[in-house]
Amino acid sequence: MCGIIGYVGHRPAVPVVMEGLGRLEYRGYDSAGIAWIWQGALNIARASGKLSALESKLATMPAIMATCAMGHTRWATHGEPCERNAHPHQSNDAKIAIIHNGIIENYQSIKNSLQQKGYIFKSDTDTEVLVNLIAEKRKTEPDMLHAFAAALNEARGAYALCVMSLDEPDVIYAARASAPLILGIGTGENFIASDIPAFLPYTRNVIFIEDGEIARVKASDFEIYALDGLQTVEHAEQTVQWDIQAAQKDGYRHFMLKEIFEQPRVISDGLTGRADACSGTVSMPELDNMPVPEKLHIVACGTSYHSGLWARHLLEGIAEIPVQVDIASEFRYREKLLASPGENAIFISQSGETADTLAALRLAKKHGLPVMGLCNVVGSSIAREADMTVFTQAGPEISVASTKAMASQMLALALMAIYWGRRKNTITSAQCKELVSSLFSLPRLLDDNLPQMREKARELVQKYATFHNFFYIGRGFCYPLALEGALKLKELSYIHAEGYAAGEMKHGPIALIDPSFPTFAIALENELFPKVKSNIVEAEARAGKVIVLTNPGMEVKADDIWVIPGVKSPLAGLVVLPALQLFSYEMADYLGKDVDQPRNLAKSVTVE
Ligand code: F6R
Repeated sequence: MCGIIGYVGHRPAVPVVMEGLGRLEYRGYDSAGIAWIWQGALNIARASGKLSALESKLATMPAIMATCAMGHTRWATHGEPCERNAHPHQSNDAKIAIIHNGIIENYQSIKNSLQQKGYIFKSDTDTEVLVNLIAEKRKTEPDMLHAFAAALNEARGAYALCVMSLDEPDVIYAARASAPLILGIGTGENFIASDIPAFLPYTRNVIFIEDGEIARVKASDFEIYALDGLQTVEHAEQTVQWDIQAAQKDGYRHFMLKEIFEQPRVISDGLTGRADACSGTVSMPELDNMPVPEKLHIVACGTSYHSGLWARHLLEGIAEIPVQVDIASEFRYREKLLASPGENAIFISQSGETADTLAALRLAKKHGLPVMGLCNVVGSSIAREADMTVFTQAGPEISVASTKAMASQMLALALMAIYWGRRKNTITSAQCKELVSSLFSLPRLLDDNLPQMREKARELVQKYATFHNFFYIGRGFCYPLALEGALKLKELSYIHAEGYAAGEMKHGPIALIDPSFPTFAIALENELFPKVKSNIVEAEARAGKVIVLTNPGMEVKADDIWVIPGVKSPLAGLVVLPALQLFSYEMADYLGKDVDQPRNLAKSVTVE
């Protein structure tokens, strides 16, 4: 939630920061702002709404030559989304500016004590409190570093922060506690940002700032200090493999569409080095040193949670490992975590920064459970705090709605199931070979079929765009996909949609079905097909319209039949998924919604 970027170097800083904000806008887009110091004055420009509003504002100003600037794109936590609450905020004496991603939990008590000292607050934000606390500390501390640290030692909560001060006009201070912050190291220029794509055109050399650290960033060098004691800390520089091409639209109308069409590539990349098409084997060297889990807890949020629900069918079916799947925001408050030796927990998170998933991981660790991360972002908090992490290699996912990340998570979990299945001997090498061969068939099959799937989605959308409610139903491994289909439809097109286990419909929800309430049924070629078919008939008997997503040759009657290629179950989920994604994508686009940045949402939910 919220994107921050600071730049100090030899280029005009404002365009660099604005460009970086464009690549961070997925993290929040209800307002944006930028600060720079020029000719001894601290300047701030802010605008409510998307980044384009700030761009228009800056376009009316004379060219800004500052070489040090910082910018923010906001997802509101404290205070309504409006210009007054947009970042940067400045201290009452107009000497210090701040940008912030996170929440200062004890801001009210700090605010009260600052108000007693005469401070005036123009916004409703916790952030404006913090910048004035720094200003207050600066009155007694010898320099900005000590003032910043003194203020942070009083603040509780989560933050990634950048601060600029007239005291040191060519320096950006930054600090982190439970929110991502990455230092990008260039030649004669440095960056500090919430995410790597913000500075990817300029450098791939990074340092991941840790919780409890402060960075002092200048054009030519930087220092990192431990907040506690201010002794300097050394970190090894890392080089990330992402390139800027991967973070651009490549001629697609939206990032979401590009990312849906990237799924064949994501699957083949995910197979590379982990599965061998000739021998039909799976190797996961990351897992070689750990015993096969006797039981697994899978914990995640949203779409990542749906990957976990889907994977349970493989982990139980192939590797015979009992699996419990939990929503992280519930798991983190479990009073008792009844875990026994031999159990492991997997925390799935594309961003690796989701606050609830991170808190759940910390709880599991506290209870002695070995914890594994399944993450896309290398260097993210979950990846670093887990005992070990499997990376999904999906590349940067920019669209707020997660698509290719889910496919990459499903693939990694499928490979784990096969890998553990072989280690436990719950599947034979012939069965393993068959599964591996199905996985290898997927990229080509998807490449060949995605364009037709998009056409079919478009055709259906024209027919169904006037409906305000949808059921998505499925059984077995298709039930989590029904949940995902419903989630995608509601988050992108704002149409109410419910995902249900098809067999649950008759226990209440079926009462809602009438001609205005269609059902999207996932009825693939497998042993549950006759059961789902009965559920379809039941919906139709209540005059409900039905779209059926099915495989060639399946006999089923419905208002609309959408045939997708059949693949061995449950791997068929990787073909169902893009169909559901494309239906929601086309629906949102047809209805004129903001596909890549749906209202009220942000990628990387770093607040609770
Ligand atoms: C939906 C979506 C979200 C995320 C969820 C978890 O399209 O993107 O539901 O899946 O916020 O995010 P990660 O995987 O980053 O922990």
